[in-house]
Amino acid sequence: MQPLHVVILAAGKSTRMKSARPKVLHDLAGRTLIEHVLHAARPLAAASTTLVVGHAATDVKAALARWTDLQFVEQSPQLGTGHALLQTETVLSGKKGTLLLLYGDVPLLSTGTLQRLLESHHARHAAATVLTAELPDPYGYGRIVRDPKGQIARIVEERDASAEQRAIYEVNSGIYALSLSKLFETLHRLASDNAQGEYYLTDLVALYHQEKRKVDALCVDTPDELRGINSRIELAEMARVVRDRRNRAVMLSGVTLEDPATTYIDEDVTIGADTTIGPGVRLQGRTSVGARCTIQAGCRLTNVAVGDEVIILDYCVLTDATVGDQAKLGPFAHIRPESVVGPSAHVGNFVELKKTVLGRGSKANHLSYLGDSMIGDGVNVGAGTITCNYDGVKKHRTVIDDGAFIGSNSALVAPVTIGAGAYVGAGSTITQDVPPGALGLARGHQHNKEDWAARRKARTPEAKE
Ligand code: UD1
Ligand code: CA
Repeated sequence: MQPLHVVILAAGKSTRMKSARPKVLHDLAGRTLIEHVLHAARPLAAASTTLVVGHAATDVKAALARWTDLQFVEQSPQLGTGHALLQTETVLSGKKGTLLLLYGDVPLLSTGTLQRLLESHHARHAAATVLTAELPDPYGYGRIVRDPKGQIARIVEERDASAEQRAIYEVNSGIYALSLSKLFETLHRLASDNAQGEYYLTDLVALYHQEKRKVDALCVDTPDELRGINSRIELAEMARVVRDRRNRAVMLSGVTLEDPATTYIDEDVTIGADTTIGPGVRLQGRTSVGARCTIQAGCRLTNVAVGDEVIILDYCVLTDATVGDQAKLGPFAHIRPESVVGPSAHVGNFVELKKTVLGRGSKANHLSYLGDSMIGDGVNVGAGTITCNYDGVKKHRTVIDDGAFIGSNSALVAPVTIGAGAYVGAGSTITQDVPPGALGLARGHQHNKEDWAARRKARTPEAKE
């Protein structure tokens, strides 16, 4: 097998996005466009992968820092796709085998299609194989012009095409398998005498045809895969395609989606069987959801590990957190980063957790803020309990040990520890540790004045009883 070298073009400015961010770093279903391409190419196990960067090159490189085996080549100024590929001569000249050319803004290409392209290229001993598709609306794409024998003769860009050529439905995807033999020699001969004054890679096809080197086309019947993104409208349309595909796969794996049209599940999310997901739910990043869970309407989970048989009622927001088996959350709970909701724990409406561990079977059912807290097992946190973790300068920790009972509307002024099995009286403002098993009570005493109402009425006859 000949060595494979992957090149991805991502230097263009992408004017139509009207964005300060480079196009290839825009998000599509939880991954940047360029990462979709890298994921599709990875199983091909190429000998090298080279990215041609130019516009906002520093941002693109920084965003791909975790892809350690990439090499980068800069193209400046950006004089067209042919010129872009020529820049890889510095790293690929003298190499043998096949070059697979991909675009950073064509994110839906599947690994299978790339494999078929390479297989066909090798089997037919072509110098170049172009991936093409027939589109009902070919506007904007380069058209595949064939000679009388049906061989590809050249590719004509929309702007350079005659009316007759514009009527051709077969389009250039811009994706090619190219033999490395004499490739760079030929690229040096490209000219820029066209409507855009650019060095078009597509002209390579015409040069090869003149030299009687074999140019082949592989026409795919899944044209969505070949779509490039040029505007935010196309980005949204493609996001819908990705989402549909993803949601179908999720449903086929045994998950119920009550309304797939409004369910957003990122590529890297995993969900166990017999879990039910309500309308308007977003599962983002590296979220994993166990089996037999229910996630009701309008919840957003980002990088959350959810166990089995968890119930998350409507409109909860969870970020960078862990939820144990059989826990119950919401409605309207907010679980912020570095929080852990233990197995069988309950977090109810309008409860916020931040950097807080809530132990097994513990309950915080109503209207609480629990921050920087370590809460043990079997703890009952009463309605309206607040951990006062911030003194205006620093954050402080609250520890509530196993089995403690915190009465409603308590303020726990951190740093403070409530011992195991201790009680805090409702309405207390706790500023000192409460020992295990003790009752901490810190509130004003109540005085009842007997018959006060009648005395008042006697003093001021117009007062109502
Ligand atoms: C290109 C093809 C066209 C094809 C279409 C498919 C050419 C001349 N035309 O047109 O036949 O139908 O793709 O989507 O090749 N890039 C660089 N440096 C440059 C110019 C572009 O790196 O100097 C990169 C862009 O970032 C992008 C890719 O190459 O990833 C394609 O460039 P773009 O300008 O979008 O080409 P199209 O006009 O769409
Ligand atoms: Ca394009």
